Amino acid sequence: MATDPVPRTSRLPAFPPGFLWGVSTSAHQIEGAATEREPSVWDRFSAEPGRIKDGSTAAVACDHYHRYREDVALLAGLGVDAYRFSVSWPRVNSPGGLDFYDRLVDELCAAGVRPVVTLFHWDLPLGLDWLERETAERFARYVSLVAERLGDRVRTWITLNEPAEHTLLGHALGVHAPGRQLMFDALPVAHHQLLAHGLAVRALRAAGATDIGIANSHGPTWPASPEPADTEAAGLYDLLLNRLFADPVLLGRYPEGLGDLMPGDTGDVEADLEVISEPVDWYGVNYYAPTRVGAPQGTDTAFGGVTLPAGLPFTVRRIEGVPVTDSGWPVVPEGLTELLTAFRDRYGERLPPVVVTENGCSGDGLDDRARIAYLDGHIRALHRALQAGVDVRGYFVWSLLDNFEWAEGYARRFGLVHVDFTTRRRTPKASYRWYRDQLRAQRQAA
Ligand code: NOJ
Repeated sequence: MATDPVPRTSRLPAFPPGFLWGVSTSAHQIEGAATEREPSVWDRFSAEPGRIKDGSTAAVACDHYHRYREDVALLAGLGVDAYRFSVSWPRVNSPGGLDFYDRLVDELCAAGVRPVVTLFHWDLPLGLDWLERETAERFARYVSLVAERLGDRVRTWITLNEPAEHTLLGHALGVHAPGRQLMFDALPVAHHQLLAHGLAVRALRAAGATDIGIANSHGPTWPASPEPADTEAAGLYDLLLNRLFADPVLLGRYPEGLGDLMPGDTGDVEADLEVISEPVDWYGVNYYAPTRVGAPQGTDTAFGGVTLPAGLPFTVRRIEGVPVTDSGWPVVPEGLTELLTAFRDRYGERLPPVVVTENGCSGDGLDDRARIAYLDGHIRALHRALQAGVDVRGYFVWSLLDNFEWAEGYARRFGLVHVDFTTRRRTPKASYRWYRDQLRAQRQAA
């Protein structure tokens, strides 16, 4: 492996000493061993015909549950400082579930890789429902349990992953589990996840944690034209993606412009906002691409390759003149600089240090030069944000392994490491060696 040629890009600019370099995964997408835990909403959803493009499920996935030692060795070989993974709530509910994470954390610590633990990455235990306020309270109890067990070795915690996507794709549009098409009636799902976040921060603090964040998806929203119909549609999209979750967490209020969309039956919203805005130590941003948005236009709405139901108040338009990944996502590294500087300008002092908790692209092949170009461009764009004064502390590539890409099944490969889904054999791609060499160079520069 060490002798294989690594496609060259020039050396990346030096990041400050202590900058955290990592890779990310999530439980449902890699673990498999589905019979060794309770079911989640994703197990049921994937079993419904037509839900997953290639008809697959995550029952075995990368079989990481049984092969975690091999995966930790891959992390050690990569030389990352940190590994972001998620704990599966349904597994924790099952006998021996926490033991698995205990072993994984021990293995990581022995390899000198810092565990960064996401507590919810979409695999809600079957039977629970984010439409119910009680789910937030149950989440906090589960978080206490995990923190009690792992908190002696885990310093860094992420409460939720991309609650905006989970709300929008899972509950408003129905293309992810649990498959509901509630459109704007899905908003209580947003509120209850936010409440769950705030209660989890309190639970983690009570367990002594001092390094807590949340991972939200963000990207610049570009209006399709300066016409009011387009800027209005883009404004609403921007509110849903970039402010609905960030404003309550960072400012303690819902964004203006939500109007009476926010339902009144979610309890005492003002009191909840106190909990939701419990200070975090850092703010996680998952960035993939900007979105060009215009007024509704027929029924041709597409979002990241997914066809959306008609009747939405906006349409997602193609961004012309840039490369696209095999998921059809535009490749726009400058979008990351734009996003982070806009974030700093909007939230000012209220914005804690930022960590890019996910960034990457899908694409086939072991000689994955397009992925190298994508990562190279985005890490440079991140450095420009740093130079512009944004306090960025870390960067995590999505993903270590090819894995179960939700409704796309196994057809979209995001890994630095190729996984053969028949044999589960792992083969590092060129991008793995490129990232490893860049991290070595960063260390030498420090
Ligand atoms: C966001 C999600 O957090 C992750 O689960 C997903 O695989 C990647 N983006 C790529 O779509």
